[in-house]
Amino acid sequence: MSNILTNQIIMNFELTEEQIMIQQAARDYAQRELIKDVIERDTKAEYPTHHIQALSSLGFMGMMVDPIYDGGGMDTVSYVLAMEELSKVDASVSVIVSVNNSLVCYGLQKYGNEEQKQKYLKPLARGEKIGAFLLSEPEAGSDATSQKTLAEDKGDYYLVNGTKNWITNAHSGSVYLLIAQTHPEKKHKGINVLIVDKDTPGISLGPHEDKMGMRSSDTHSVMFTDVKVPKANRIGEDGFGFKFAMQVLEAGRIGIASQALGLASGAMERAVAYAKERKAFGKFLFEHQAISFKLAEMAVKVENARNLCLKAAWLKDNGKPYGVASAMAKQYAADTAMEVTTEAVQIHGGYGYVKEYHVERLMREAKLTQIYEGTSEIQKIVISRDLLK
Ligand code: CAA
Repeated sequence: MSNILTNQIIMNFELTEEQIMIQQAARDYAQRELIKDVIERDTKAEYPTHHIQALSSLGFMGMMVDPIYDGGGMDTVSYVLAMEELSKVDASVSVIVSVNNSLVCYGLQKYGNEEQKQKYLKPLARGEKIGAFLLSEPEAGSDATSQKTLAEDKGDYYLVNGTKNWITNAHSGSVYLLIAQTHPEKKHKGINVLIVDKDTPGISLGPHEDKMGMRSSDTHSVMFTDVKVPKANRIGEDGFGFKFAMQVLEAGRIGIASQALGLASGAMERAVAYAKERKAFGKFLFEHQAISFKLAEMAVKVENARNLCLKAAWLKDNGKPYGVASAMAKQYAADTAMEVTTEAVQIHGGYGYVKEYHVERLMREAKLTQIYEGTSEIQKIVISRDLLK
């Protein structure tokens, strides 16, 4: 029987003072600062440099990293709360925060050796460096075992050749966690994970992807031509790369689930506010049952998504298996984000279709949460396999 369904879990739904403080700090920054130029950055597809600097000094880039490695030492529940608040306003900023925290810093902290942590984790946790996670390839997005990028073993270094696609933080980042194949005959058991400095000779970037949403985060292809990576930069044993990627994605999906949650709750808050100020047929929108029922349905979905995100975070914080919970949170929150943002546009009518009211952007951004860090279908594979095992 599935672990997730049989787990007996006692949850305390009350947030601690520290968690509330972090939630409030993220909310303040998002509502006071991110909001000011979010539409302009989206229009120009402009990287949010000054916001990432500010969020670094507030401690949001290495939130869950142990303070001995210059991180904030916070729990995953706090991370979910912060991600929701940032994503209500700007999901381009929150994806940069998410990749750095729950893919790159998490992977290094959990599996890196001491030397790697001193050299790479510390500056990443301080936000002085930004990390990227290089798994997807032109023909290996969902099918992650089919890695074509080669990391040939040349004794004391790996020689890397290949192309990675859709890489968040490819340009702004300077530390890459690269998943590459060393022993093709061993299939996924031959894959390694290497820490690669972006300025290593032989690395080049494709153009900035002109995306539908999350337009101000930087997404590029990354090409490797005879790139030499020292063996000391391999994380774990030879052949550990695929397990590493799967484990790190379990954590990363909590971040993207919380991003989707924020998109949904942000759109719902805007729809509620609009329904209270706009009149049609002589009464406020919320006085029309067609609208109030939509708002109620949104609220139930948002609350369900929030509970799934917090549950996955709580399981992780308490050292319990959380892979299925994070897949459930990601699938449900992403689908909820798409539904709720679409309804928010509908409630706004024509105003919802123009940039000034924000909800059209939230809807464009929601779509990506159903695609990256594993599509909704991939999450269903993870969930159903667990059910059926
Ligand atoms: N933890 C540890 N090991 C795991 C694991 C997990 N969660 N999931 C699978 N594995 C192991 C299996 O045990 C198996 O190992 P053994 O052979 O030793 O038994 C091995 O990995 C292969 O597993 P599967 O046979 O289940 O592999 P599969 O190919 O059938 O499917 C999958 C796995 C879940 C579909 C996986 O390929 C997957 O998650 N794909 C999606 C990838 C993804 O999320 N990409 C997003 C890129 S990152 C991104 O988007 C970041 C960004 O920029 C925002």
